[in-house]
Amino acid sequence: MQIRLDKFLADAKVGSRSEVKGYIKKGRIRINDEIAEKAEMKIDTEKDQIYFDMERVWEKGFVYYMLNKPKGAVSATTDNRDKTVVDLLKQEKYFAELFPVGRLDKDTEGLLLLTNDGVLAHNLLSPKKHVDKVYYALIKGFVTEEDVSAFKEGLDIGEKKETMPSDLHILKSGEISEVQITICEGKFHQVKRMFQAVSKEVIYLKRISMGKLTLDKRLQPGEYRHLTEAEIELLKTR
Ligand code: URA
Repeated sequence: MQIRLDKFLADAKVGSRSEVKGYIKKGRIRINDEIAEKAEMKIDTEKDQIYFDMERVWEKGFVYYMLNKPKGAVSATTDNRDKTVVDLLKQEKYFAELFPVGRLDKDTEGLLLLTNDGVLAHNLLSPKKHVDKVYYALIKGFVTEEDVSAFKEGLDIGEKKETMPSDLHILKSGEISEVQITICEGKFHQVKRMFQAVSKEVIYLKRISMGKLTLDKRLQPGEYRHLTEAEIELLKTR
């Protein structure tokens, strides 16, 4: 879409229309590799990359965070009793607009995307899109090759249909087994219910990736960071 630069910047909440005109005059706005010269120039929102100082400006002021969800936080915007994942980002700009893209159980850790971009969230969560989610899990009991086959074939977890084929990879089989599992659906308690279907119990669950986005290993539970420009592009172009 073609749009005036000052309107794009104001819509992106960089500042009021007159403030952004000031930023343009001072040479603080860049379109791709060039300093922007005029407020009324047209930009193409699909092709052009706009920067305010060094920071990329996203359409309509969208923000994207990767959180390593800690145990105990609920995947919601508000909760009467418990701390929510959004509460962890209280100091951030647009905090009031943020929501988690999908849910992890209260006792699950790992990758959770928080944003105010409803379209991106919809695209990642739509059941039709079959976005892969990878989890690391500890399982009570010996996980076997039979389990691997059962996960591949699909399991009855009490829904109308069996689960779609999922990839169960045994990292270590023992009294406590270590596995990695990839699913492309997002049913309530799905991983736990899949293991229940083969009479086993998940005792620790952590999401490692969602689509092309992988949890940054440097983030400790409860820590978060902005997605990089490359990560946002990856999610948008999946
Ligand atoms: N599957 C579960 O059982 N729990 C989660 O939090 C995510 C996937």
